[in-house]
Amino acid sequence: MAIVNYAFARGIDYPSIVATSEKVAWTVDEIFAERRFDATKPIVPDSWVGTQHLAFLSEDEQRTLNHSRAFSYVHLFGNYEEFIPIHLMGLAGQDWHNERAQLRALLRFGEEEMKHQQLFLRAEAVLEVSCGHTFGRHFDKDRLIAFTAAMLSYPPLPRSLILLALEWGSQRHYVDSVRDKRADSGSCDPLYVDILKYHWIEENQHTKTRVLEIAQLAHALGADQISEAFDQVQGIAALVDKTFVGQVDQEVSTFRTVTCRTLDEAEAKALRELLYQSMRKIWAEVAMTHPNFKRVALELSKEGAAKLGIV
Ligand SMILES: [Fe+2]
Ligand SMILES: [Fe+2]
Repeated sequence: MAIVNYAFARGIDYPSIVATSEKVAWTVDEIFAERRFDATKPIVPDSWVGTQHLAFLSEDEQRTLNHSRAFSYVHLFGNYEEFIPIHLMGLAGQDWHNERAQLRALLRFGEEEMKHQQLFLRAEAVLEVSCGHTFGRHFDKDRLIAFTAAMLSYPPLPRSLILLALEWGSQRHYVDSVRDKRADSGSCDPLYVDILKYHWIEENQHTKTRVLEIAQLAHALGADQISEAFDQVQGIAALVDKTFVGQVDQEVSTFRTVTCRTLDEAEAKALRELLYQSMRKIWAEVAMTHPNFKRVALELSKEGAAKLGIV
């Protein structure tokens, strides 16, 4: 049964979430068909890359960085999602006696995340075909196993909180990319917009089940334990931050291989720093500053939320 003693969980129920998810479901093949990305143009908004003001880069070099960031986003997202089905199966195992619609949501959305991993893997492959070269990947099998195991070593509440932030962040990724496209401030590739759009269409249901899940998990904990969950969110955020650094290294290495450009020490440092800042911005800042996430965090624990800079 859903716990409705938190305002953020009121008015949300599992049966209608599942019913909506059945109406909006899509397949990876429907999105891609035979489509390709247009590699003669930027693929993601310039704001996702943040290197436009580096005068020592040519237009072609900026475009290569843009394509690398398009790749990094799908690569990281696909790998970040690896732990989610296991997380949801754990909750289903605890609450197998709960209402049927809740169990359906847990199982269904675990499967949807598997589908999203497929979506992002397909996007990786189509980006490489469209751009005519490979891109560096932070995650290999060993890193993925280590990262997923580290995520799963945390208790369910901090895992659900980081997930909620990430899922609301995916809404902003879509809205921002469309907004940038409309503002004509650097185009966003139509196929890429569709990937963001269809991912968000399903994540929109996930955020609803996530708040119910968080309400239920928090209901069983004392104030100190809830506050501690925010320390654990910081621990998970530190794990994720290491992957930003690793993927930025891959972007710089891809840049060197594709452009054959030699950067001096100061240029390489400036490039790496800006790529890291924009990586943090599109993932961590966008997620942790989402107004809905702030509302949930504050209602759960003002003390805990303050640890994330939410006041
Ligand atoms: Fe997803
Ligand atoms: Fe999700």
